[in-house]
Amino acid sequence: MQEFFSRYDHLSQDPIFSLSSQSAKDTRPNKIDLTMGIYKDASLKSGIFKSIKEAEKRLLEQESNKDYLPIGGLEELIHQTELLVFGKRMEGLAGIQTLGGTGALRIGADLLKAGSSVVYLPKPTWVNHHKIFTYAGFKIQECAYYDRGAHSLSFDAFCADLEQAVEQSVVVLHGCCHNPSGMDPTLDQWKIIAQICQKRRLIPFFDLAYLGFGSGIEADGEAIRSFAQMGLPLLVAVSYSKNLGLYGERIGVLLALPGAGFAENVRSHMLALARASYSNPPRHGALLAASVLSDSQLRSDWITELDGMRERMQGLRKDFAQALKVSMPSQDFQYLHRCRGMFSYLNLEVDQVSRLREVNGIYLTGTGRINISGLNSSNMSDVVQAIEKVIK
Ligand SMILES: Cc1ncc(COP(=O)(O)O)c(C=O)c1O
Repeated sequence: MQEFFSRYDHLSQDPIFSLSSQSAKDTRPNKIDLTMGIYKDASLKSGIFKSIKEAEKRLLEQESNKDYLPIGGLEELIHQTELLVFGKRMEGLAGIQTLGGTGALRIGADLLKAGSSVVYLPKPTWVNHHKIFTYAGFKIQECAYYDRGAHSLSFDAFCADLEQAVEQSVVVLHGCCHNPSGMDPTLDQWKIIAQICQKRRLIPFFDLAYLGFGSGIEADGEAIRSFAQMGLPLLVAVSYSKNLGLYGERIGVLLALPGAGFAENVRSHMLALARASYSNPPRHGALLAASVLSDSQLRSDWITELDGMRERMQGLRKDFAQALKVSMPSQDFQYLHRCRGMFSYLNLEVDQVSRLREVNGIYLTGTGRINISGLNSSNMSDVVQAIEKVIK
């Protein structure tokens, strides 16, 4: 029987997690980690939201058991998420709590597989989208999204690809703060995308991992709301990893607007998928998230802190673009301003990225994506100088 396991070849590790662990082992005191999608403050620490700390203090005083949550998770969290994303109660909504945004994407993919076999992913997209939909049994099709040379959205090509899409296919859309490019469609462009989805009978599946990181909670939800207003059936995978800093607590929500009369049946399938894979979602982080979202004081403290994080990232973008421009005047870095959220591309080749890592201890993904929050006033000039050197 030993040969049973001989069929398993060795799969490569997730590129972002393996780079990040490489960076953690790097003993150079001046190393700079711009890889992982974890927000860092000006002292380059990740930390815990004050509102979450306060909610946790209250929870520790009050909690009297560690019973299972229901299979679908904490009702209050789902309800608060519905309000956060759509701004109001939605008729015919089906939702369950999930294991982070990844869990919401996977349950959503498994759910949609019953009626669809092709998924359209923007090129580029978060690398794990490929894995999630492949493991769920989908055929992956890539559609044009971002032109790295022009530093802009390939909007016409994106629309043209969607126009050709097979009916009833799934289309993954980043609700805001596209990872990795940081480039989002305008609201008018979103409306055109919605019309194509409607015409081609496509199922939009929004990945919403950075709500509040782009232009604020309200503005960042506009794309999804505009699709919902048109009455399109859609799914949303919400992650609270970044905007509530609950990364390791694994808190997310899957929301679906399947169309009038279908919500209960669709939810029953979500519950069956959850029961068959992990049974019950995490309790501790769900109670914290629900507490912050539903308590007016904690919520307002949270929004203030989130606003501060966003403003810090916007300030860093401005300073970084300016510093790069001063050191390399012939190159265009203004696009960094137009990006939203935590990520942007630097137009670097793989060997230039490797040199930054090996020579300078500066870590970014092999594709040249940086986490802007990993910069601060002390390390920015080192990063700019090192980039100038590898480019020359
Ligand atoms: C675009 C995107 N979607 C989903 C996720 C998954 O988030 P979570 O950690 O909540 O599973 C991430 C995390 O990096 C992400 O960048």
